[in-house]
Amino acid sequence: MAKKIFKLDTPNTSYIMAVVDDGSFLGHVYYGSKLEDYDIAYLLRTQEAPFVPSVNGRDRCSFMDSFPVEYPGHGVGDYRDGCIEVLSATGHRAVNLSAVSHRIYEGKPELASLPATFGGKEECTTLEVECEDAAIGLNVTLSYTTFEDVDVITRSVHIMNASSKELYLTKVLSACIDMDNREFERITLHGSWARERNIQREKIGYGKYKVSSLRGEPGHQNHPFMALVTEGTTQETGEVYAVHFVYSGNFMVQEEVNQFDSVRLTIGINPDDFSWKLAPGKGFQSPEAVLVYSDNGIGAMTRTFHDLYRNHLIRGEYRDKKRPVLINNWEATYFDFDTDKLIAIAKQAAELGIEMLVMDDGWFGSRDSDNSALGDWKVNEEKLKGGLDFLVKEVNRLGMKFGIWFEPEMISPDSDLYRSHPDWAIAIPGREPALARNQYVLDLTRKEVRDYVYECVAKILRSANIEYVKWDMNRPLSDIGSACLPADRQGEIYHRYVLALYELQNRLIKEFPYLLLENCSGGGARFDPGMLYYSPQIWCSDDTDAVERLSIQEGTALIYPLSSIGAHVSDCPNHTVGRVTPFETRGYVALAGTFGYELDVTKISEEERNMIPDQIAMYHKYNDLVRRGDYYRIASYQENHLYDCYAVVSKDKTEALITYIQVLNRPNVHSRRIYVKGLDSNRKYLVEGGEKAYYGNTLMKAGIPVEDVWGDFKGKLYYLRAVE
Ligand code: DGJ
Repeated sequence: MAKKIFKLDTPNTSYIMAVVDDGSFLGHVYYGSKLEDYDIAYLLRTQEAPFVPSVNGRDRCSFMDSFPVEYPGHGVGDYRDGCIEVLSATGHRAVNLSAVSHRIYEGKPELASLPATFGGKEECTTLEVECEDAAIGLNVTLSYTTFEDVDVITRSVHIMNASSKELYLTKVLSACIDMDNREFERITLHGSWARERNIQREKIGYGKYKVSSLRGEPGHQNHPFMALVTEGTTQETGEVYAVHFVYSGNFMVQEEVNQFDSVRLTIGINPDDFSWKLAPGKGFQSPEAVLVYSDNGIGAMTRTFHDLYRNHLIRGEYRDKKRPVLINNWEATYFDFDTDKLIAIAKQAAELGIEMLVMDDGWFGSRDSDNSALGDWKVNEEKLKGGLDFLVKEVNRLGMKFGIWFEPEMISPDSDLYRSHPDWAIAIPGREPALARNQYVLDLTRKEVRDYVYECVAKILRSANIEYVKWDMNRPLSDIGSACLPADRQGEIYHRYVLALYELQNRLIKEFPYLLLENCSGGGARFDPGMLYYSPQIWCSDDTDAVERLSIQEGTALIYPLSSIGAHVSDCPNHTVGRVTPFETRGYVALAGTFGYELDVTKISEEERNMIPDQIAMYHKYNDLVRRGDYYRIASYQENHLYDCYAVVSKDKTEALITYIQVLNRPNVHSRRIYVKGLDSNRKYLVEGGEKAYYGNTLMKAGIPVEDVWGDFKGKLYYLRAVE
């Protein structure tokens, strides 16, 4: 019989667990639409075979292997992959947790040294369930927080060594959901450099499917997200169980279907190459996992994530503010620039209404290509004649803000820093570490390295009126070794590195709270909720081609609010794919993000240059709506290979912006209509430029015919305003 039931409610969902068999097991009972009943522990099958061990010890193993566990251990009869493994002083690895007590309180505590969602006492309730493994002296606190305003449950785990001997954690995941009797399709995000977060959807079957990273960052290739959806789930219908990870390092997310057709979904730090030495009395905090359930399809899941991240994760001055329209010189000049060139770009840009100049890679040390100088954070005064302060003042005089690029985590072999501190690079003694983009990664686990890097960045920021920083990171970690950690702590490097990164960014935003920080990693390799805690926007991809961006931004916006997606209009032929798209279309696509330019505005055609003021006016007109509104996916170019369409509808449903991009035209497609979503059925809306208003119901059910879009790569915006 169940001894205790825990029921967590959000506005539309319930999550139920039960303690059974004298506290020995914390079972997962239910997660889904909101229920009235709370004691539904009959679902745990403790009255039928396989009985709980206290009733039928003879078949303990089959019980362990089929019981839906809240936080499964390892090695005692559950043959599915568990959440926690611990190497004890005796050389054993098993963990078996029993629930011993619990605590419920208002609010949500911060996670020590880690980013996490937040909410006040009126907004959140937290449940902590204390578990223990008395055999090895391990205390495990499972934390669950519910939010009053979003259908989200966050989970994290704190481990404590209550024994008198050292323990080594070799696996600590953040969450698990065991579900019976479900058939699902799985949605994940995959890609490559310049092709991040494309959506993949497949039916699940027996066995395990794992998505993970060992790159020290989530990477371009995979994303710490998985959604299990009932067959045929659409944007509006079907059930969705989604998990996402608030972490910027190695992760794993896995679904497993076992012999009983039960599904286990787990997420957390990748246990490969992970171990953490826990001295007696010491604790370890896992990062946070976010759980979202929707029974209104994928669209509702998306809007839940957007609201959660906009209101309970992103911080700082720019969180709710329109961002300045920037122009970045990377694709304009690459490394070949000087003060005069930048000022010429800024002058022209200012006349067109652009509000900030961002000086990208190449302004420091002997950085004339990507082969040198990372670590030598001193202004190259041959390029920047008159110094940085002079350049910034000139740009400010034009009425523009100034922003700057850094790659603080890296070191070039050809740098003064490496020549004086070769041991500051991450490396394994006796092996030459692999280069990537001709650079090594700094060993941020060392305090003196962190302090050096921080001071370099801060000194530059203190030296001039710099209002924006692009924090880049252009290679994954490899050859994991630190000159300063003992042998039994080398397995901690990956996680310590991420903690160090968080510490650095925390120091930065504390000292320079007015900064607009944009994270970046060779495009979008570190686009994750962890980084969003420090920067309200992240560079989405190095691919700025308007067509490629449709898929990249669709996958990104599946989870992330448009306000966080770094998106720029760049020059054509596009530098990554060589495609030529209309300037107008590039603007429409960048509008579904932070919006800016990445081209030499002095060199593009006059016709294109003349379009910029209108594009900027468009940005100013629509950005409040785009940043704050509800996002609806109407058609997907990834799926239909012809056109893309999405809408942003204001929360009060008084206005909506629909973006339609026709990638390929086809003859005689007169029947194509946009079936709008998210409007108020009973209000009338006028499509800007039209004469007659129609009910939201009509525009959603009967649609808007697509007209006047002729040719490939063409786009059109439809702006709807409620008139009654
Ligand atoms: C990678 C970034 O994604 C680019 O935008 C640019 O900043 C380069 N690094 C500079 O090296």
